Amino acid sequence: MEYLRRKLVEEALREGYNLTAEAISLLESQQNPLETLREIIKRLKASKNDIIVVDAEHIKEIGLKNIETGGIVSEIIIEKAPLEEWVPDIEIDERYMKHYRIEGKITEFQKYFNSRYMKLKSILEKRGESFSRIIDVMRSPKGSEATLIVMLLEKVEKEQSIILQVEDDTSTVRLVAPKKDNELVKKVEKLLVDQVFGVRVVKIDNSLFVKDVFLPDVPVKWRTISEDIREVYAVLLSDLHVGSKKFRRDLWENFLDWLSNSSDPEVQRIGYIIVAGDIVDGVGVFPRQDKELEYTSVIQQVEEVAKLFSEIPKRIKLIISVGNHDPVMKALPQPPLSKKYRKILEKYRECIFVGNPALIKLENRRLLIYHGQSLDDIIQHLPNISYSTLDREIRNVLETLIQSRHLAPIYGENTPILPIPEDLLVIEDTPHILHTGHVHVVHAGNYREVVLVNSGTWQEQTSYQREIGLEPTVGTAVIVNLKTLSFKVKKFI
Ligand SMILES: [Fe+2]
Repeated sequence: MEYLRRKLVEEALREGYNLTAEAISLLESQQNPLETLREIIKRLKASKNDIIVVDAEHIKEIGLKNIETGGIVSEIIIEKAPLEEWVPDIEIDERYMKHYRIEGKITEFQKYFNSRYMKLKSILEKRGESFSRIIDVMRSPKGSEATLIVMLLEKVEKEQSIILQVEDDTSTVRLVAPKKDNELVKKVEKLLVDQVFGVRVVKIDNSLFVKDVFLPDVPVKWRTISEDIREVYAVLLSDLHVGSKKFRRDLWENFLDWLSNSSDPEVQRIGYIIVAGDIVDGVGVFPRQDKELEYTSVIQQVEEVAKLFSEIPKRIKLIISVGNHDPVMKALPQPPLSKKYRKILEKYRECIFVGNPALIKLENRRLLIYHGQSLDDIIQHLPNISYSTLDREIRNVLETLIQSRHLAPIYGENTPILPIPEDLLVIEDTPHILHTGHVHVVHAGNYREVVLVNSGTWQEQTSYQREIGLEPTVGTAVIVNLKTLSFKVKKFI
């Protein structure tokens, strides 16, 4: 922290500015403090006023959170009084709590994809546009135009065009997206196999040419005012990886200390802590993992987690989801931890166990918890995104989930998915908060009134992450005010 402060002060001085203590604290609370400072200096210079001492007010005026997250200014405190006579309000969608099994029949896959298509089709139909079926467009005269709802089967790049093989519930067809239309190419390049989307086409000779494509997405404004919600905070975190030699116990202790002893007024109003999976590092998750483990048995790892969780104040409801490192079936939807592990975790305190994904309501706010296994597939397939630039690009990756209205738009690849009759990975009702983890890079921002969070990690950079150039955000939690849906990233370094 000292080092960061010094860097901020030096950077400002080099540009001819002095920072007040409040300005420094405000910058420190940001996701990328140095980058934020550079952007503020750029804007101060552009505004051509003669400020040389920069205080917190100047930074807020410029719109700090707009620079950082494109979201609202994250002033999360309204009431300073502690929470009294508060009764937790939690609803859990039971569909995400089951242990699903499949037999591996082809009909199971057909049903699964049909469910995915039909659910996303009904979301697109709510836009009020009229859509045609492939079978009818094939019979229509040359020159006619239509809009289809399709699933992408294959995308092949040619010299002059991108060819999309798509299907709907009536047939399959080949669409031609001409490369001379730059705007269109940008959109088509981002399309992912198995994604369901709308496409405007025109029939020229016997081919269907793409004029535009659009994803199901969410409306720009959709939230209704809910005045009766109490001002309660949720703390979102994930990816502790207890059992790994790289787990930062010292930072976790800072977090516990903050929860129990801090005079920050919001601490008194924290009602929930949500952990979006990877509580342990697990055993045998990747080759030669044993060399990186402090505890080589999962039982021991879970016992350690139980001790770490036992110090979270008992008044706070602790909700635990699962990830790919946890001892539970790997394919999505993952069930909650089994009784064997729950018993260990509940030795010292009560916990609420949910699956992955999990759809819950806290204080009447819809919260979609998803560990984020498919984020790896999206990072690999979206143009211009890599692990080494993830701190800047994670926002686009998370937005892709909301725009696709699906938690794993690409079927399979690195994300095992069970083909169960109902596709539970479709985002049917727009969540107030989407809480993800898995990639170990923090993000908190707004996208069309959805609070998008990736809650970072408590594990130092691993050798694998070093190889791929991923810089994890270690020791962070995201705090969300459930009344106002404003948020802030809190670092415990
Ligand atoms: Fe993880």
